[in-house]
Amino acid sequence: MKSIVITGGAGFIGSHVVRLFVNKYPEYRIINLDKLTYAGNLANLKDIEDRPNYKFVKMDICDFDAFYKLMQDEHVDGIIHLAAESHVDRSIKDPFTFAQTNVMGTLSLLQAAKLYWESLPEKYEGKRFYHISTDEVYGALEMTHPEGIPAPFTTKASADSHPAYGEKFFTEDLKYQPHSPYSAAKASSDHFVRAFHDTYGMPTIVTNCSNNYGPYQFPEKLIPLFINNIRHRKPLPVYGKGENVRDWLYVEDHARAIDLIFHKGQIAETYNIGGFNEWKNIDIIKVVIKTVDRLLGRKEGEDMDLITYVTDRAGHDLRYAIDSRKLQRELGWEPSLQFEEGIERTVRWYLDNEAWMDNVTSGDYQKYYETMYANR
Ligand code: NAD
Ligand code: TYD
Repeated sequence: MKSIVITGGAGFIGSHVVRLFVNKYPEYRIINLDKLTYAGNLANLKDIEDRPNYKFVKMDICDFDAFYKLMQDEHVDGIIHLAAESHVDRSIKDPFTFAQTNVMGTLSLLQAAKLYWESLPEKYEGKRFYHISTDEVYGALEMTHPEGIPAPFTTKASADSHPAYGEKFFTEDLKYQPHSPYSAAKASSDHFVRAFHDTYGMPTIVTNCSNNYGPYQFPEKLIPLFINNIRHRKPLPVYGKGENVRDWLYVEDHARAIDLIFHKGQIAETYNIGGFNEWKNIDIIKVVIKTVDRLLGRKEGEDMDLITYVTDRAGHDLRYAIDSRKLQRELGWEPSLQFEEGIERTVRWYLDNEAWMDNVTSGDYQKYYETMYANR
């Protein structure tokens, strides 16, 4: 039986990873380690919280002693590390918290794992430290074709006609050039993870993924924020001219990639994860408005006038675009969903789960832990 810690499992992507592992691997013991910051919400995992192979532990990843003890008590074999401060706008206001959690927290996990695994007779045999990172560490790409050129790659997620906005993509060998405090902190944590492999021989893997979308994303991020605002006919704050390009991947496809890489990925390797699915913000916003309108029985496009151009984000990266061909070539992963299907599913989920959204926007979800877990 494998004992696996998933950090940040109460967050957006982490909850999908926890659900996938708990359902798919009844023989594993899945320990969800989360501090439950504003972004952590145990209601994301209601459907699996009573499973015998699942356990929740409220812990700060910066708490070295507590984590070292957990490694010993649970005989932890694998760590899938997602816990982080994840929102660029917050990092601009409060960079210290990002350095503390993303850098010091990751270092604390690495050091505790190292001491525990090195104390075992088998050492690092069968062990794995898998660090989940972002494409934002690579910096920003140029937009050499503002109107978009036909996508050079065809996957299930990117229709043939879907444009790429330049010839250059993020590949695994690119130099890191982070611009925001968020991406600088993630870059630093990536370097520490690789340093633990190179210095101590720890079996590490790093993946860098593009923007995720789907159910359970905290509504400070573009897509859930805008779905909720359209529903309530509130203004949609578009930064700058809405020309920035992001590369969107459905969250369950990311979780499937994490499962594959955790089990089959090469130690010390980096894999980029993305679906060749580039969108200008303003174009994706229009798709979201039309979809919400249609699903709410409004006239399609009638809420376009909610679009409100506001001051640009400081240091706003122009374009992200992932080249995920290494992952496709070496491990056979490809996204399963067309974007049109993924966005329809996502909008429908937020509209069908109004109680979840109201709970999060009102702050009530933070009481969930107290009532559900405090007395167990
Ligand atoms: P999220 O903000 O939704 O969730 C983060 C989780 O980490 C929350 O449950 C929070 O409570 C927990 N956490 C924060 N600080 C903690 C601490 N000190 N100790 C323990 N737990 C703590 O984030 P997300 O969007 O799910 O992202 C998860 C990971 O994936 C992050 O590492 C992020 O950098 C990376 N990533 C995200 C995206 C994306 O589009 N969301 C894309 C690529 C990579
Ligand atoms: P976000 O979801 O914050 O992800 P990231 O900054 O990690 O890419 O933002 C996605 C894009 O949408 C980004 O270019 C910033 C833009 N954006 C807005 O225009 N308005 C908003 O209110 C938000 C939250 C984001």
